[in-house]
Amino acid sequence: MELKVQTNVALSQFTTYRTGGPARFFAPARNWQQIFGLREFAKSKGMPYLIIGGGSNVLFADEGYPGLVILNQMDKLRIHGKNVTADSAVSISKLVLLTAKHNLGGVSGFALIPGSIGGAVYGNAGVPDISISDVFVHAEILPENSDTPIIVGSDYCKFDYRTSHFKDTKDIILNVTLKLKSTPAAIIKTEINQYIKARTIKQPIGLSCGSFFKNPGQFPSAGWLIDQSGCKGMEVGGAQVSEKHANFIMNTGKASTADILELAMEVYNRVEEKYNINLEPEVQILPKNPFI
Ligand code: EPU
Repeated sequence: MELKVQTNVALSQFTTYRTGGPARFFAPARNWQQIFGLREFAKSKGMPYLIIGGGSNVLFADEGYPGLVILNQMDKLRIHGKNVTADSAVSISKLVLLTAKHNLGGVSGFALIPGSIGGAVYGNAGVPDISISDVFVHAEILPENSDTPIIVGSDYCKFDYRTSHFKDTKDIILNVTLKLKSTPAAIIKTEINQYIKARTIKQPIGLSCGSFFKNPGQFPSAGWLIDQSGCKGMEVGGAQVSEKHANFIMNTGKASTADILELAMEVYNRVEEKYNINLEPEVQILPKNPFI
């Protein structure tokens, strides 16, 4: 099988933050066999590798990524009964909208979550009233040290708030099956519109990774803590703590990853100083997370 590996590809074009330097090696993949081949390529060179989907929850260093970045392009979706099986690169919004057309709902809350279903399972994405784990049936994965995909259920995934077992492994999520509920398309549309309305009132539009930090618990939320620590509107270079929602660190246009991280660190320090709480980033910072 021929693998199209490119060198020095700018990663900023693949992330919602629009920052980050080049990947040393880069390749798109349209099926698990290509992913497998690319993983073998990285292993043979003894370099790190990483698979990205929608790029909405990753922040790459300005120096770039010193290994292979695989861009997941597997994006087929199949509805069977009340279940939907989506390849890991299917965007969550597409999944919600397409299943709604088949009168299948129960996941309207996900409509506005950016990124792909694979990333959503990896980070157990969700909104306060529903997370991916609530509707998860199983996933097909390529385990870290295997050449054969297997199907795994919830037990394997060890879902928790905005996290899963996948963060501790190098397993690759190939596709995901979710259980939906029979719901008239018109009702789903109304629900989605309500979520859109609520979000536009609370959250800023622009270049970001969504919430930057995880909520440390039910209350107080990260947004509240950052707000009360007087961080709204703070700026470093082209990065700014949103005036609308304090847990959004925006790229106002010309931010570098260094700007975003310096600002996030200042936010982290202020919250620690005032509340003695150590916020944990929700965004995956690569190749090295400076917060741990
Ligand atoms: N708050 C403030 N000041 C702010 C922002 C928020 O005081 O600047 C307070 C709010 O008044 C509220 C509380 O903090 O009492 C929680 O805020 P909000 O309702 O906006 O929810 P959130 O916990 O900040 C979560 C998800 C969002 C999701 C919304 C849907 C996390 C980390 N974030 O935000 O998810 O869209 O609920 O309501 O769980 C994402 O994960 O990327 C994301 C955007």
